[in-house]
Amino acid sequence: MNTMKYYKILLSVLIISCSVSSIAATPDSTKAGKVNKFTPGAIWPDNHGTHINAHGGGIIYQSGTYYWFGEHKIAGDAGNKAEVGVHCYSSKDLYNWKDQGIALNVSNTPGNDIEKGCILERPKVVYNKKTKKYVMWFHVELKGKGYSAARAGVATSDKVTGPYQFLKSYRPNPGEMPFYPAGTPDSEKINCVKPASKTDGFFCRDLPGGQMARDMTVFVDDDGKAYHVFSSEENFTLQIAQLSDDYTSHTGKFIRVHAGHQTEAPTLFKRNGIYYMIGSGCTGWDPNAARWFSAKSIWGPWTFHGNPCKGEGSDITYGGQSTHVLPVAGKKNAFIFMADKWTPKNAIDGRYLWLPIHFKGDDLEINWLNSWDLNEFKN
Ligand code: GAL
Repeated sequence: MNTMKYYKILLSVLIISCSVSSIAATPDSTKAGKVNKFTPGAIWPDNHGTHINAHGGGIIYQSGTYYWFGEHKIAGDAGNKAEVGVHCYSSKDLYNWKDQGIALNVSNTPGNDIEKGCILERPKVVYNKKTKKYVMWFHVELKGKGYSAARAGVATSDKVTGPYQFLKSYRPNPGEMPFYPAGTPDSEKINCVKPASKTDGFFCRDLPGGQMARDMTVFVDDDGKAYHVFSSEENFTLQIAQLSDDYTSHTGKFIRVHAGHQTEAPTLFKRNGIYYMIGSGCTGWDPNAARWFSAKSIWGPWTFHGNPCKGEGSDITYGGQSTHVLPVAGKKNAFIFMADKWTPKNAIDGRYLWLPIHFKGDDLEINWLNSWDLNEFKN
């Protein structure tokens, strides 16, 4: 065969195989095909061909595998309550996810803090190198009490995929005043004798029993210290609180961020020694504009930078709300913004919006893409 002919045949084989794999990869397909791109907002089938059920989730990377934990939702508006628990999926490539089942089950015991029918949101798992345990934190609302309990819940497991054993739920840091880094002006310090604002008033009201803890994330720093970030003070102010060495309780050291400005859905990550947070405003299941912050120390001061999203739909985060920022293993400067597109009338149909974060120096930006893959990070 002459060389020209050989190359022509090779080229057509390549073209055919590429187009076949891109058809099979369509995440909207109901069959369990091989996925090789992210399609924000589309149905995302797991290895059984079922739409992934891990809302308000987060991802941990362990020995070459990613584990995605999120709220398992059921159909209808009943799905806004925890009827099942926390679902886990695993993946080696971030596109194709294997169902690992329920990592944390809700309890059938009446009165249990995580009784079936409670609200259990935004689970995040971290690994504790000292205790060799996986620690899952989440937001818990006691069954039948609406959103009034505002507690942080914690569960642990020896195995990443579970089963996780529920330990306790509570409001963090009772009796503790915030930590103020050197240089904090007195005007920013809380005076519970005469609270200066509505949010300071909520803080002082909750001082004896512990601070409210709703939308949340957990972040482990390079030195192994872990932090719980949560919407507190009736969702008016974010708090960043240090966790104990075993990651299962709070140490009493915490700061308040962007007091009075209602930040929810926090995510926290670190790049080139700078800490970044991306969160949302506070409009329930309805989307609003995202917001980002950065700081040179976890203890602040945190600088508010406004909306990281650009272009059409940026004023409502393209219909989504942040839940986690995932550093892609083995790639420098590769961070994925993960958001939920909530569908509260049929909770199980909630979609996932994953988008690449682009950095310009130390600033970041998020743009909508109909579909993309990890090669995006080469640009
Ligand atoms: C959102 C929050 C969700 C859920 C919802 C309930 O603001 O981010 O996690 O709590 O409110 O209305």
